[in-house]
Amino acid sequence: MLKALSLTTWLALVASVGLGVGAVLRLVSAGSGSKAPGPVDLGSPGDLKIGQIKTSQNVALGRDAKGFYAHSLDCPHLGCHPAWDQAQHRFLCPCHGSVFAPDGARLSGPAPRGLPHVALELTSGDNLLALPGRVVAAGTRLKV
Ligand code: FES
Repeated sequence: MLKALSLTTWLALVASVGLGVGAVLRLVSAGSGSKAPGPVDLGSPGDLKIGQIKTSQNVALGRDAKGFYAHSLDCPHLGCHPAWDQAQHRFLCPCHGSVFAPDGARLSGPAPRGLPHVALELTSGDNLLALPGRVVAAGTRLKV
């Protein structure tokens, strides 16, 4: 029976196994890390206008009428890293197609929820600092 499988079927099978192993390895490495991600300097608040998004490392910074917010770029589905798509004004996960609004809210796809918001502080040097290890409620805003 194995000889009867076509090359296309074999390639699809190998690709499926590879994706599955990759997802498991990401979950294992995420779960085994005892070290919380470090702070991310996001620069001066004056550099970001209302409606703009800035990404750095694994964090996105946004600004709306209520203030500044930051959320992680770890997809809550299987841990891939959604990328900002300026043309669509959305975050798109490259692995299984989840789509997120600028504020990280889930719009579609297999992700069970939105991108987790993280604490944001203003440093003494007036820079915005995201703290990826501290998850906060999605409505949290920093007013500067
Ligand atoms: S990891 Fe599956 S949709 Fe993001």
